[in-house]
Amino acid sequence: MGRLDGKVAVITGAAGGIGREAAMLFSEEGASVVVADTPRSAGAQTAAECKRATFVEVDVSDAPSVAAMYATALAAYGGIDILYNNAGIMPADDDSILTTEPDAWDRVQAVNAKGVFLCCKYGIPHLLDRGGGSVINVASFVALVGAATSQIGYTASKGAVLSMSRELAVQFARQGVRVNALCPGPVETPLLMRLFSDNPAAYERRRIHLPMGRLATAREIANAALFLASDESSYVNGATFLVDGGLTAAYVTPE
Ligand SMILES: NC(=O)c1ccc[n+]([C@@H]2O[C@H](COP(=O)([O-])OP(=O)(O)OC[C@H]3O[C@@H](n4cnc5c(N)ncnc54)[C@H](O)[C@@H]3O)[C@@H](O)[C@H]2O)c1
Repeated sequence: MGRLDGKVAVITGAAGGIGREAAMLFSEEGASVVVADTPRSAGAQTAAECKRATFVEVDVSDAPSVAAMYATALAAYGGIDILYNNAGIMPADDDSILTTEPDAWDRVQAVNAKGVFLCCKYGIPHLLDRGGGSVINVASFVALVGAATSQIGYTASKGAVLSMSRELAVQFARQGVRVNALCPGPVETPLLMRLFSDNPAAYERRRIHLPMGRLATAREIANAALFLASDESSYVNGATFLVDGGLTAAYVTPE
């Protein structure tokens, strides 16, 4: 028996990174998965590698595109139980507040904050139609702690996701919809490793603050998402669900 037997999950940003890992895991655990990502992504390939999945093109920053994503999910699988709002960007021109231009700020908010808003706005009604469900909004540890190596737009967008998730958790709790903010620590994915590929010192500057001395794997984050998606987490609601290896608990680390 799978931990998500009979459930339908829509995962945004599922072509690669953590979302891809989660799509594989959720489908192994019995879910039907909608692998949602941008047209030029490897989403179709990810869906083909899952047990039971469909690729849907989406731009999470665009309202009609998000509504159409759910319409396709509904037509394919007859209902929706899990929203895993995972799509996010961290562009290189989002940096210190002194050098980040307003257009970079706008692009990041459009995907990371407005994207989650739209995915909840158009997705939660489908969960209500099913009598309940689980929403996993991806924030980050940076919603809780500050860094001198700033990515100001990204950090602010993740703060928005965290507080939006708490409010939704309270609003829909009595209708069976749980909403949690999944807050990963640094993870070995293309998004992060791209930034460090030609700058090992920048990587080391971050690694040293991790009590476990290493970044998370995508599977470790997907495992946490699986718990939040499944009925095993039936009393977990409105949580700031940290999966950070102790990073936000740390003052002085072992090195
Ligand atoms: N990697 C980390 O260290 C880390 C840490 C904390 C939080 N996160 C968050 O986890 C989530 C997944 O990150 P990842 O590391 O797997 O990144 P990734 O870049 O590997 O994957 C992100 C996916 O989102 C998709 N995407 C981007 N813009 C989109 C849009 N407008 N519409 C639809 N899809 C879009 C991309 O095509 C990509 O497949 C993100 O929200 C990220 O902010 C990552």
